[in-house]
Amino acid sequence: MKFLVVGGGAREHAIALALERAEAKLVVASSNANPGLERIASASRRIDPTDVARVVAFARSERVGAAVIGPEAPLAAGLADALRAADVPTVGPSKEGAQIETSKLFCRELLRRHAIDATPQWAAPATVEAVDRAVAEFPGPFVVKPSGLTGGKGVWVQGADFTEAREGGAYAKSLLLQGGRVLLEERLDGEEFSQMAFVTDSGVYPMPAVQDFKRALEGDQGSNTGGMGSYSQRDHLLPFLPAADRERALEVLRRTVDALRADGIAYRGILYGGFMLTRRGPVLLEFNARFGDPEGINALALYEEGDFAELLVGVATGRVDPNLVRFRLRSTVVKYLVPPGYGERPKPGGLLEIDGPAIEADGVHVVYGSVDAAGPGTVRLTSSRGVALVGEASAIHEAATRVETALRNVRGEYYLRHDIGTKEDLARRVEHMRQILSPGAKPSPLPLSVAAPDAPPSSSAGPDQRSG
Ligand code: AMP
Ligand code: GLY
Repeated sequence: MKFLVVGGGAREHAIALALERAEAKLVVASSNANPGLERIASASRRIDPTDVARVVAFARSERVGAAVIGPEAPLAAGLADALRAADVPTVGPSKEGAQIETSKLFCRELLRRHAIDATPQWAAPATVEAVDRAVAEFPGPFVVKPSGLTGGKGVWVQGADFTEAREGGAYAKSLLLQGGRVLLEERLDGEEFSQMAFVTDSGVYPMPAVQDFKRALEGDQGSNTGGMGSYSQRDHLLPFLPAADRERALEVLRRTVDALRADGIAYRGILYGGFMLTRRGPVLLEFNARFGDPEGINALALYEEGDFAELLVGVATGRVDPNLVRFRLRSTVVKYLVPPGYGERPKPGGLLEIDGPAIEADGVHVVYGSVDAAGPGTVRLTSSRGVALVGEASAIHEAATRVETALRNVRGEYYLRHDIGTKEDLARRVEHMRQILSPGAKPSPLPLSVAAPDAPPSSSAGPDQRSG
């Protein structure tokens, strides 16, 4: 079977590597010439993935048997609908289904309508006056987010991105005046995790839980990014995430898929829940309609036991054999090499010399992101995340050490977060969660109703507060 992979980043390279291990053939439609994808693909075409007509024409001319869409932008452009209309079974939701990611307002309203209560308190003020009222009504710190796609970069968190409530209000107003919708949310305190799953008519099939490092700088400082790296733990939980809480998160995914179906939206693709583990359990921050980047790289690295091609065809056609959803019991760490200044003012164009065979000899594999091939063993960085190094071991910190060791085989100017997956950082997160759950800790603000247009009724309160 020949697959079409849409997109040219590290997530798509990781998908292609998993297909290659399944001995599937593939062709690629992407804007950049990703050296990793170029090596695997039997044909590769420079097409903007949101250029739906050209991607469909390419799929037809290559007579592909199925397609997998990596990034969100082509989903938002209706590529999955167009491929299905052209009889290409596709991994990726329809434009309607992708709204779970492309419109945070759609997502919050869906959950409210179906009484899926694992959400923060929120308001969606439609006027500048309503922003002032909503700001005044939040009892504690809050978060401002554009409703539409931002690549994880438009979210402002009080205490990290702004201090005074009025600054958050001014930012919310500026977003409204630019013509978009805006959400204000209660700031949740806890540890974040990502829970992805394969979703199709026959059910929801979980991947290992992953923790992403969103902030640009070490110690979780600096601005929000698409993600600087991530780790997963041998037992598919996380050092601070017990099985019962992961199960609660999965229940949110299952109920959301049921809610979509009840509203007439069949979802065949990847569903990614971004959760905050709080004092009152896992609370949903956002959904994505695709593999996380980098989180998908962790999960895909562990998928070796089944047949990935068959699994993807199952997702695309509505019936998955649960025996195919098997992930190895190993810990993984992904670290991104990014251009200097990434997160604020990235400096594109730098060259990286990557000694792939030496890195592999160090037990680490290379996943190419938004880079262009610039000669043998050399890539040119763009302004986005460049190259992901993936380490694997029994313990998370060992996997991280492997990545750090492999850096001796990379030359050039880049930045990366050395703290991802270290023993110290993991201990810090476990301690943070312990403090959040300790009986004396100040609970996160409790939900209340906000008197603003489109405000949720008080029934949209979060799940019950935990005891202890
Ligand atoms: P989102 O695009 O909604 O996932 O937001 C991007 C990042 O902003 C998240 O990964 C969190 O780090 C942070 N964030 C978003 N919403 C909240 C919230 N309600 N409380 C605390 N942090 C948040
Ligand atoms: N790493 C966050 C995302 O994929 O959106």
